[in-house]
Amino acid sequence: MLEADRILDLGPGAGEHGGRIVCYGTPAEVMAHPESSTGAWLAGRRSLPPLRASAGLLAPDRSSAERIALYGASEHNLKRLDIEIPLRRLVCLTGVSGSGKSTLVQNVLYPALQKAHGKPSDTPGAFERLEGAELIDAAVMIDQTPIGRTTRSNPASYVGAFDEIRARFAAEPEARLRRYTAGRSASIPAPAAAPRAAATASSTSRCSFSPTCTCVAANATAAAIVPRHCRFA
Ligand SMILES: Nc1ncnc2c1ncn2[C@@H]1O[C@H](COP(=O)(O)OP(=O)(O)OP(=O)(O)O)[C@@H](O)[C@H]1O
Ligand SMILES: [Mg+2]
Repeated sequence: MLEADRILDLGPGAGEHGGRIVCYGTPAEVMAHPESSTGAWLAGRRSLPPLRASAGLLAPDRSSAERIALYGASEHNLKRLDIEIPLRRLVCLTGVSGSGKSTLVQNVLYPALQKAHGKPSDTPGAFERLEGAELIDAAVMIDQTPIGRTTRSNPASYVGAFDEIRARFAAEPEARLRRYTAGRSASIPAPAAAPRAAATASSTSRCSFSPTCTCVAANATAAAIVPRHCRFA
């Protein structure tokens, strides 16, 4: 948003609390606007509290010596992007639609890792340097392609990865206060279609998402980056 020429801020709140043009201007003008919630977040007047260790959330450990680093990624709309992915944890890549998550993971990082491991793959998208490929045995690309007839059964739902995510949501203090169970966040239902999926998938493997398994995920893409000794049974 800070890169935008102009921002149109509709609000001030969501749903019935919105509907007005709160302000329209350059990012600096929006940031200075007293009524703009967007401006307050952009300017840092509002911010999220730090992650609570008590909720079982792990703050990013930037001191991890073991990491995969990709420098100068320049495919599609990426402009010499540098990223460092710490190993031995679940790493998620987020961003608005079109920001380049799939490009980064599918078109650059994954093919670059395959090439570094001497495996066949598409030619990687433009980048300058890759470090840390020797720290992992293999990179496994898992995408959201349905494995059954229903689009709701994909590799992530089939291996039960969402169970752990639902449990994490249910353990949040706010969720406990409201007595929300893991089932409540099941917008992606438990894999009822699993038997069919098992029958139709050409091959399936049970993936143990252990603490030793690092995963890089984009919303349409997930590449599991597997350090040595990660259990894939
Ligand atoms: N094959 C392609 N050729 C040219 N440009 C592309 C190609 N694929 C994607 N792009 C462009 O690259 C940019 C990043 O797209 P990308 O699909 O990587 O974003 P994304 O963050 O994964 O988005 P989404 O959340 O919608 O999946 C977009 O501007 C897109 O139009
Ligand atoms: Mg994408």
